[in-house]
Amino acid sequence: MQLDNKTIEIVKSTVPILRARGEEITKAFYADMFERYPSVKGMFDMEKQKNGKQPKALALAILNAAENIENLEAIRKQITNIGNVHVKLNVKPKHYPIVGECLLKALTTVLKDAATPDILEAWDKAYNAIAAFYIEVEKGLYEKNS
Ligand code: HEM
Repeated sequence: MQLDNKTIEIVKSTVPILRARGEEITKAFYADMFERYPSVKGMFDMEKQKNGKQPKALALAILNAAENIENLEAIRKQITNIGNVHVKLNVKPKHYPIVGECLLKALTTVLKDAATPDILEAWDKAYNAIAAFYIEVEKGLYEKNS
């Protein structure tokens, strides 16, 4: 999916705040997702939540996607590495909207008024593009493994 220039520009403008507050956002994201979607909680290693490894890894992956949002192809290799982890744990396309909803909510919770309607709209579109790319990569990995 090709994003419009305005969306790309807004997403790129959020890179500094993501760099500064990414882990705060992903910590809020996991707390909310595990509470509202207990069915996905079992997929995660709680040790990596406690020691902060997973919120850190997710924040870095989101930052990396934001920095390359106009050309996700450039980070196909990194996404394939993450995709391999996802495929081992049986992450499926149906899970992506849950993550998207909770991520948008965490942006609002953490950034408060700084999460303007423009920023939320741009990130909604950007997340869908990022998720579509992950899903495509993982489809290939599932096919290769079958
Ligand atoms: C675009 C959205 C997503 C991004 C950017 C993302 C990013 C990541 C990253 C960076 C890792 C760490 C990989 C490693 O250990 O090397 C990871 C692991 C993982 N992801 Fe995702 N992910 C996304 C979507 C999802 C979805 C939809 C699910 C399913 C609910 C999911 C479930 C997991 C699980 C279970 C792990 C293993 C973590 C653990 O061991 O606790 N992810 N993901």
